Amino acid sequence: MTPTVGELEDSVLLVTGATGNVGRNVVGRLLAAGAAVRALTRDPAAARLPAGAEVAAGDLARPETVEPALKGVSALFLFPSPGTAGPVLRAARELGVRRVVMLSSSAVGYSGEGADNSVVAYHREIEHQVEDSGLEWTVVRPGAFAANTRQWAPQIRAEGVVRGPFAEAEMSLVDDRDIADVATRALLSEGHSGAKYTLTGPESLTQAEQARRIGEALGRPVRYEEVPPDVARERMIRDRVPADMVEMTLKFQAGLVGVRAQVTSTVEDVTGRPARTFDQWAADHVADFR
Ligand SMILES: NC(=O)c1ccc[n+]([C@@H]2O[C@H](COP(=O)([O-])OP(=O)(O)OC[C@H]3O[C@@H](n4cnc5c(N)ncnc54)[C@H](OP(=O)(O)O)[C@@H]3O)[C@@H](O)[C@H]2O)c1
Repeated sequence: MTPTVGELEDSVLLVTGATGNVGRNVVGRLLAAGAAVRALTRDPAAARLPAGAEVAAGDLARPETVEPALKGVSALFLFPSPGTAGPVLRAARELGVRRVVMLSSSAVGYSGEGADNSVVAYHREIEHQVEDSGLEWTVVRPGAFAANTRQWAPQIRAEGVVRGPFAEAEMSLVDDRDIADVATRALLSEGHSGAKYTLTGPESLTQAEQARRIGEALGRPVRYEEVPPDVARERMIRDRVPADMVEMTLKFQAGLVGVRAQVTSTVEDVTGRPARTFDQWAADHVADFR
């Protein structure tokens, strides 16, 4: 069931990160619910946002450029931009914004191997700023996105083989449409204030199984060929992944090997229907791998 615009009817909702996997879906869902939507992007000309959305230029890394877009806004979907969320939230409060829904990460709640890194730290810091913002707040904490597997597309197109580390690392990949469904509810309806929603997909899958299932959706075999971490490291560095991100990824995935990933019922609890499966995500995105 699509939520409908309730008491926020006469005001605008501002979506940041609006051209991203999640933000673009939030924009679509808010429009479908009949809301007035302003979508923030650093590059309006390239944004390809739906005609019904008002497109605003702004860069979260330069909060003064976001302020004009906050005028007349009742609720804000906040993409977590490291270092500058504080001033954006202060401006939001001063300009009369009432509600914020923040995109965070389930890693904030982890305590295991690989949990202590700069990405977790900045999400945690922004969560604290959201909690202290004086706004009505909800934090949405997704785990690994199904959309991350798109990074395999060139290898799948070329050879039908994904070469990567830790084939047996397990994740309960979450569909970005489910994240957007939950965020949209939190933006439009009552009863989500103060909630921290940990969102996962419905099943724990190894990376080898994820690749196999993409193959099933494609109708031809796809296999995951495990390479040693050193080989994966070299490849990521060659692909210009920042060095700290490379180490973080390897350490994090190493900690997931042979461990069933957490599965939560939060998507269903909030939306009233089960989380989308990875098979469904793969079927709906098969064109990306052709
Ligand atoms: N991927 C995962 O597995 C995972 C897991 C847990 C949590 N997360 C969270 O989800 C985020 C990724 O979400 P996503 O996939 O929807 O995003 P995405 O597809 O990576 O897109 C990022 C969006 O943010 C906007 N953006 C980036 N920096 C900005 C800035 N300084 N000012 C304004 N806009 C900026 C970009 O818009 P323009 O270029 O149009 O300005 C773009 O639309 C991660 O950063 C993390 O916080 C991800």
